[in-house]
Amino acid sequence: MSQLILKLTGLPRTMLLTLRGRAEEQARSVPLFQDELAVEWRKFLPWDDQLERFYSQFAQIAWAVRAYQFDVVANKHIASVQNPLVVELGAGLSTRYHRVRQEQLHWIELDLPEVTNLRRQLDIETEQHQFMSSSVMDFAWMDALPSKPPESILFIAEGLLVYFEANQVQQLVNQMRQRFPSATLLMDVVGELSKPIANQMAQQGWPLQWYVKGEREVAEMGLSLVNVWSLYQLCPERWPFLLRSQSWIPDIRNGCLILETKLEPFGQYIEPRSLNG
Ligand SMILES: C[S@@+](CC[C@H](N)C(=O)[O-])C[C@H]1O[C@@H](n2cnc3c(N)ncnc32)[C@H](O)[C@@H]1O
Repeated sequence: MSQLILKLTGLPRTMLLTLRGRAEEQARSVPLFQDELAVEWRKFLPWDDQLERFYSQFAQIAWAVRAYQFDVVANKHIASVQNPLVVELGAGLSTRYHRVRQEQLHWIELDLPEVTNLRRQLDIETEQHQFMSSSVMDFAWMDALPSKPPESILFIAEGLLVYFEANQVQQLVNQMRQRFPSATLLMDVVGELSKPIANQMAQQGWPLQWYVKGEREVAEMGLSLVNVWSLYQLCPERWPFLLRSQSWIPDIRNGCLILETKLEPFGQYIEPRSLNG
């Protein structure tokens, strides 16, 4: 296959950054995970100056560590429920299904139509692994999910919710709480530390819109916190010393959080069980 001609504009282009982050992880002497598919797919995808401006060694670490931690939670979920269903929202070109694949696992990749069409050129859709074209904000996708006990469902929103306004995230959470109470929602959120880069991203049509001060703000949306991790405290050996040694400072700790939450009909704040995994 030669390089694909992409007509992606706006937010879908950001998935090319995270894909490269995972692909380049494979060149490290001890990668955090195995992802040969990311390396393969990257060969077919174009790259340009606009993307290059947002790619750095630091960003590679962030995207790889985030993907690694999301894998940890996905694997835990798959091992702990019967007939698990995993739904990646804003999946982009996530290769997680292939990293954690197991028997009896049903996995859905949801993204905007142009992204799903692109995935169809690279990946193989099966009964177990399905691709869904929809905006996450068009809630009809919820009706199209297979019928499963909500406890068996893991929703993954990796690098997605930050692009919506707080009230949009709240509407999404409200719908999901009503439809899938007790399902797990795994997400990442950013704090004000990300604002300088956000201004540059906004100029490219990728505005970050949802900033949180800490996990309590997310819990107040009606989610119970199961686990909270500061990205900068995970895989400490990977981060620059200065960041690692200051990651206890609230603004830095909350610069990027990974939250494993439960969708609760009457969510209440539950103290996180772990801050470092
Ligand atoms: C930064 S990428 C993350 C992709 C993937 N989750 C990952 O971590 O590699 C953001 C993704 O969100 C998708 N996205 C943006 N707005 C969306 C929407 N309204 N509904 C569904 N997906 C959306 C984009 O198309 C893109 O694939």
